[in-house]
Amino acid sequence: MSEQHNIDNVMHEHRRFEPTEGFRQRAHIPSLEAYQSVYRQATEDWEGFWRKQAETELAWMQPFTSVFERDDHGVRWFDGGTTNVSYNCLDAIIAAGQGQRTAIIWEGEPGEIVRLTYNELLQQVCKFANVLRGLGVQPGDVVSIYMPMTPELAIAMLACARIGAVHSVIFAGFSAEAVADRNNDASAKVQLTADGAWRRGKLLPLKQTVDQALAKSSTVQHCVVLRRTGQEVPMTAGRDLWWHDLMSQADDHCPAPALPSEHPLFILYTSGSTGKPKGILHTTAGYNLWAKLTFRWVFDWRPDDIYWCTADCGWVTGHSYIVYGPLSNGATILMYEGAPNHPAEDRIWDIVERHRVTILYTAPTAIRAMISWGDQHVEKHDLSSLRLLGTVGEGINPEAWMWYHTKVGGERCPIVDTWWQTETGGIMLSPLPGAIATKPGSCTMPLPGVVPAIIDEAGEEVTEANQGGRLCIAKPWPGMLRGIWGDPQRHFTQYWEAVPGMYLTGDNARRDEDGYYWIMGRIDDVINVSGHRLSTIEVESALVSHPRVAEAAAVGRPDALKGQAICVFVSVKGGEPDEELRQALKLHVRKEIGALAVPDDIRFTPSLPKTRSGKIMRRLLRDIAEGKKEVKQDTSTLEDMAVLAKLHENDES
Ligand code: WTA
Repeated sequence: MSEQHNIDNVMHEHRRFEPTEGFRQRAHIPSLEAYQSVYRQATEDWEGFWRKQAETELAWMQPFTSVFERDDHGVRWFDGGTTNVSYNCLDAIIAAGQGQRTAIIWEGEPGEIVRLTYNELLQQVCKFANVLRGLGVQPGDVVSIYMPMTPELAIAMLACARIGAVHSVIFAGFSAEAVADRNNDASAKVQLTADGAWRRGKLLPLKQTVDQALAKSSTVQHCVVLRRTGQEVPMTAGRDLWWHDLMSQADDHCPAPALPSEHPLFILYTSGSTGKPKGILHTTAGYNLWAKLTFRWVFDWRPDDIYWCTADCGWVTGHSYIVYGPLSNGATILMYEGAPNHPAEDRIWDIVERHRVTILYTAPTAIRAMISWGDQHVEKHDLSSLRLLGTVGEGINPEAWMWYHTKVGGERCPIVDTWWQTETGGIMLSPLPGAIATKPGSCTMPLPGVVPAIIDEAGEEVTEANQGGRLCIAKPWPGMLRGIWGDPQRHFTQYWEAVPGMYLTGDNARRDEDGYYWIMGRIDDVINVSGHRLSTIEVESALVSHPRVAEAAAVGRPDALKGQAICVFVSVKGGEPDEELRQALKLHVRKEIGALAVPDDIRFTPSLPKTRSGKIMRRLLRDIAEGKKEVKQDTSTLEDMAVLAKLHENDES
């Protein structure tokens, strides 16, 4: 294989952590052999495997007649069958005698705590489902949700699912413009919001933002407003209604109707870190099955767990691993409304200790922030209830992984580094914590039913160990996206055209000699230095392993000699950066990776521009590295414009 088709692997990470014997003994899948056996079943008798899973995991009002069909209109999983996601998450758990179990433990940022059993949650969902029907919402209508992380957000999602309405949850930090764009793209009929939200002790004016958005969202007929903060908000007569007024009159009887397997469940807008937002569509039965199974496999869930995913329901992680996956297993979930550093930088650990959280699922960006806040915040809390840790959203740099492992996990908790996408509906590559030994920075192995392939630029499968290429998925899986809302052509060209017969993930990856997968970043982010293709994550991980580095982002900029030069943006801890540190970092990268990867430019910055979900926006940094003065790209998902302005300022100086 010729060199330019591959991506060079320069990361040398050889640490390996076996699950403890205690963890293994109680695990659902307790050994590598057990994992391999399920994996083999799922690939050898693919249809039989999915038939059995669907029959046993979901409640069918009418049994399905075929497992998988594909034609010009797309794919159909479990065709002929009818079910209901809200039934599977609530009624089925109650029917199994678990109605008194706590479904949601909610903590507001100011400190209030609300507990809802499955019985209580069902009652609220039924009432709100009737509220929506009363507003004229029909199966297939889109309901736009722009709400704080409150139990009512989950209730709204489940109520939509119950009556076959399609929810489009929009993260409550987005601008009015972003809300209007999404409402228009989806032709949303009803808007749900709140008077405000708490964030870092301040009030976010959600209703005002929605009012501006609705001035441009001509399809929205009604807006239901939850009273969360009690602040005064303008209500438009005829359009705006209070949640509590409607609920006080709603009937709590609402049997779940039978919905076809491929009935649309939700749209979720994602931009990833590149391009115009697209509405990823997921449907009923396949998505539900994938979320349910992957939750149980990956988090090795048991009924006595207190499971906390720190994501917001505005992201797919909140859909699959706060609401649908956990609840369809009958889990007890913790939901937290606010910021991780309010009132102090130990809020997360304080919550873990007080609620005796056993499983914690968070993002590398949050872990890096916690590292930079200092170990004292972690050390002052009793975290002995934790038994399993997880990460999602980005690659985790090995040093951040080690910190999570030692400081948070007390060296006793396995870490599941879960790779997946909005498009995949649920986790695809991840350790099964009782079965697969972990390596810091690797998402390890595919889940049963997931068949990954690494494809080089010539379209050939890379079979040699440690050769990076495009990560594809070679077989359909039940949680796969069903389309891009209103844009079938883009769905095809973006995901299915480049490598015939396979789903193109848009990420690069390599597989090591033990069959472990290592994600190397987005395809567009590869840096080509003198014909060597380097992945951003490897350069960044080398930098983050230096004790003064809090976060790093690497990008390429054109270079007459080398093709591309490496430009890194670094935020530091422990004092102001200086020339000496710059030289020390260059030496450090030389030692960790080699001369090839030594950055040409090191730019210090107080923080990095990120998408609202915490991913570093490398495309913006690329523009700055190239010296483009104006940023012309879509910045609607940029977390903090001030960060961008600051980078430009440094650029000028
Ligand atoms: C990245 C989030 C490395 C990846 C669930 C992917 C990761 C994109 C990981 C999807 C991981 C997510 N290791 N990279 N464990 N998890 N990513 O749609 O680039 O918000 O394609 O879904 O995040 O982001 P999305």
